[in-house]
Amino acid sequence: MITLALSKGRIFEETMPLLAGAGIEVTEDPETSRKLILPTTRADVRVVLVRASDVPTYVQYGGADLGVTGLDVLLENGNQGLYQPLDLRIAACRLSVAVRADYDYASAVKQGSRLKVATKYVGLARDFFAGKGVHVDLIKLYGSMELAPLTGLADAIVDLVSTGNTLKANQLVEVERIMDISARLVINQAALKLKREAIRRIVDAFERALRA
Ligand code: ATP
Ligand code: PRP
Repeated sequence: MITLALSKGRIFEETMPLLAGAGIEVTEDPETSRKLILPTTRADVRVVLVRASDVPTYVQYGGADLGVTGLDVLLENGNQGLYQPLDLRIAACRLSVAVRADYDYASAVKQGSRLKVATKYVGLARDFFAGKGVHVDLIKLYGSMELAPLTGLADAIVDLVSTGNTLKANQLVEVERIMDISARLVINQAALKLKREAIRRIVDAFERALRA
């Protein structure tokens, strides 16, 4: 049995066409089913639904053989012992710094001000601002980062941006692009050895789908 860990929403939806390339279809809709283990058209392949930030943990400890997870999650939460053979180029976005449209970020940085930064990505934000020599107080949030500068909780946020619509809708502007993000295939090292053939077939099919 091969177990693939996915999170509901964009990762699940954008992984489906790649799986179809491997001849695998999930036979239940995660949005309507309450099941956390979903069967597929292949008796030896199943999908487990986990929180996006839990995918690397499931794969690392063997709760799943392989998984699909954002580079943001891998870099922020650690990726110890995971084999990462493929950039799947899905769930593409960027990690950026954003502020209120009326906040003079450039001057604040130039003057060496201490910035209050709210983010889910505390580790990545710390590294980024340390690299620039900017002093920051980091405030950990778990979602709705855009609200922080609007309510005075923070001067800036570090969050994912794709179309920019969320920033725009909240009168925020992107002032720094920290890195490009996309989803990665991650594989458990032991599974790679023990289930080499079955996993190889899935990886090959993903590679072919990416080339197509
Ligand atoms: P959790 O449930 O653990 O809080 P989440 O709500 O961030 O996670 P998703 O919103 O499904 O989970 O995001 C999954 C991944 O998709 C992210 O880790 C990121 O790599 C990518 N992503 C997030 N937002 C966007 C976006 N607006 N456009 C494209 N990709 C995105
Ligand atoms: C992500 C991210 C931004 C938004 C950016 O949230 O946290 O809020 O997408 O996308 P945009 O630039 O295309 O507007 P998501 O939609 O995943 O909601 P979530 O915070 O509930 O995960």
